[in-house]
Parts: sequence; structure tokens; C-alpha cells
Amino acid sequence: MKTILILNGPNLNLLGTREPAVYGSETLADVEALCRAEAARHGATADCRQSNHEGQLVDWIHEAGRNYAAGTLLGVVLNAGAYTHTSVALHDAIKGTNVPVIELHISNVHAREPFRHHSFLSPAARAVMAGFGVAGYALAIAGLVRISEAPKPGV
Ligand code: DQA
Repeated sequence: MKTILILNGPNLNLLGTREPAVYGSETLADVEALCRAEAARHGATADCRQSNHEGQLVDWIHEAGRNYAAGTLLGVVLNAGAYTHTSVALHDAIKGTNVPVIELHISNVHAREPFRHHSFLSPAARAVMAGFGVAGYALAIAGLVRISEAPKPGV
């Protein structure tokens, strides 16, 4: 059974109480339960982690790269929060490890403040999901499974 790594970055531990009009009322625990259920539907296991620290996220992507190379990991669903818009280190980690990463945002970042319109991750990500609320995590997991079964988009 393969693993899917779900990484949530800074402030996502506050889901449920953080700006509910933007991010909804479900907690991180709810999101992680949703991810585990969706992964199980695809015969996979969700390994869910959250950190407010950029270097920790970098380390986890390196670990994901090793597990992907070993054939035990399908890929990563990454909501890097605000680091999306600032982190060259996360861009380099994704590029340097070759692990398939689905960049995820709960909100539609392109309909928000201009500083959220640029992502350092998108050029390194395999795909991007934004604006579906927390349901996006399940959609991203399904998309990651699909991509791993049909390596070329549209196939
Ligand atoms: C977010 C969008 C980011 O701009 C923001 O900094 C977050 C959450 C989202 O899930 O919509 O922390 O990634």
C-alpha cells in the first residue's frame, strides 16, 4: 500500500477558527480525517503533517523524495500557506527531489490580494488546486492517484 504525504504549512493548524469566511469552519483534524478517508478509497495511506516552520517542510519534502525514489510514496499534497508566496527554498526542494507535488490552496488565491497571486511553487509543482475549500484536499488526492496511473496529463 503506497503512502500520500499531506503537508500543511503555517497557520493551517488554526483551521476552524482562522478567517472562517475564507477557509471554512472545518478544523485541521477534520481535513486530515477527510484525507485519510480519500486515500483509503484509492487503496493508499495518508500521512498528514503540519508545521509552521519552513525548514521542517523542506526536510519533509526531502524525505518524500527518498520515499518516492524507493517506490513507497505516490507523491505530496502541499498547502504551503504563506510560504507559497515567499519560499525559494520550497521551490528548490521540490525541484531537487523530483517528487510529484500537488500545490493546494483552500481559497482561490487569484481572487484575493495581489501578493497571493504569485507562487514560487507552481513552476515546480506537478499540478495546482485552488478554491474548492477543504474539499480540494480530496480532489488533489484523487488527482495525484490519477497522475500516477497515467503519467502524461490528458491521458
Ligand atoms: C492558503 C492561501 C495562502 O495565501 C495563505 O497564506 C494561507 C492559506 C489557502 O489554503 O488558501 O495560509 O494557502
